[in-house]
Amino acid sequence: MTAPLRIALAGLGTVGTGVIRVIEENGPMISQRAGRSIEITAISARDPKLDRGIDLTPYAWIDQLQDLANHPEVDCVVEMIGGSEGHALDLARQTIASGKSFVTANKAMIAHHGMELAKAAESRGVSLKYEAAVAGGIPVIKGLREGASANRIERVYGILNGTCNYILSEMEKYGRNFADVLKDAQDIGYAEADPSFDIDGVDAAHKLSILAALSFGTSLDFEGVEIEGIRNIMAADIGQAKALGYRIRLLGMARIDGGKLFQRVNPYLVPVQHPLAHIDGSTNAVVAEGNFSGRLMFQGAGAGEGPTASAIVADLIDIARGDHGTVFTTPAAAMGSCERAESGNRTGKSYVRFIVTDKPGVLAEITAAMRDAQVSIESLIQTEKTDEGSVLISMVTHQSLERNVSDSLAKLSQSASLQAPPVVMHLLSDND
Ligand SMILES: NC(=O)c1ccc[n+]([C@@H]2O[C@H](COP(=O)([O-])OP(=O)(O)OC[C@H]3O[C@@H](n4cnc5c(N)ncnc54)[C@H](OP(=O)(O)O)[C@@H]3O)[C@@H](O)[C@H]2O)c1
Repeated sequence: MTAPLRIALAGLGTVGTGVIRVIEENGPMISQRAGRSIEITAISARDPKLDRGIDLTPYAWIDQLQDLANHPEVDCVVEMIGGSEGHALDLARQTIASGKSFVTANKAMIAHHGMELAKAAESRGVSLKYEAAVAGGIPVIKGLREGASANRIERVYGILNGTCNYILSEMEKYGRNFADVLKDAQDIGYAEADPSFDIDGVDAAHKLSILAALSFGTSLDFEGVEIEGIRNIMAADIGQAKALGYRIRLLGMARIDGGKLFQRVNPYLVPVQHPLAHIDGSTNAVVAEGNFSGRLMFQGAGAGEGPTASAIVADLIDIARGDHGTVFTTPAAAMGSCERAESGNRTGKSYVRFIVTDKPGVLAEITAAMRDAQVSIESLIQTEKTDEGSVLISMVTHQSLERNVSDSLAKLSQSASLQAPPVVMHLLSDND
């Protein structure tokens, strides 16, 4: 058998210890599949004394993270620290510069610096792999980069954040409000103490920008993602969506629109007959539509120790086999930047919800602002009194330019009748 692939693990938290467990438990099978063994020769994290519930004595502890990059007995560094900048990025740059392969679970770093790192890796002839960075254990990077690589991908979209999907599913199942479900999610470890990256859509946007670069061969453009999270969704929105035959899901949506790149993370009303409407709890799902393959859907656990470690070790098996290929589907040097498509130019139906003061004439004020902006209302779903004595008004527009909907809401923003900014969600259709 050929020489082992010698790896260093940077970060020994949830994902790092998971990688050790996978390699220890499935070692012989992994060696057979990879054609050689995968051997952990060095490990590093912040605290060498911390009990991680796993025996680390077989592995050499390295105090200085950056020493992993030049370690003479390391062929590949696995980064499981996190953060788009700082230690993780320094380690990535140094590892690639020293001619070693690099595997990461770090979506934030890939979303922000993926182009630079991919160009460096490709010019050095080393691997940069990141299957675990998007949708955890789901082999969606492989699916797009390899399985669907003969296709022009028309659009890629999906449920990319398990925390948000868990919260929305619980709100729907039990009619509970956002803040209560979030607190429970924090108590059981489904949501971070600071949940803003998840619930404000940033985490999903990191993953979406990576999927878009893979799917369309365009340069990563995280800054081009329009982002709206789920903070303002009320149980009443979910109930009203349900009455219309929809479920609310936070979706990342990317497509090429008239030669321009459209990327958005937003809560959508998903028709109940669409498979994404049935993705509940912390599960993730990605849909890619290829011009020959048709609709592909990848579904599974988007996070957690086992699924994320499984994706990392799969990358290591590829590297052990000698698969250096391109980092994305297209060589990084050939991935040009793409003009951004504005959501305002898109046409579709929108759900709009207002919380207003309970007084005569408010509904007329709202409908007049919409009429003036050329937005016609398909249905006024319901008006409901809240516990605080205000009134909740929800409606669905006819097919309208999104810019017109925004214009009508901008006009209403000065109104003394509105008690909170309106919430807008788009109805998922084939045109999105
Ligand atoms: N958890 C998941 O389900 C999941 C899923 C997909 C992707 N990811 C990604 O995987 C990465 C790791 O996530 P995680 O959940 O495993 O995080 P975690 O449990 O917080 O572990 C982070 C590890 O990094 C180490 N670390 C932090 N700063 C360091 C520094 N300056 N020098 C050396 N080591 C340092 C920590 O050391 P100490 O333990 O000594 O403090 C810890 O072992 C992140 O990029 C995350 O986005 C996670």
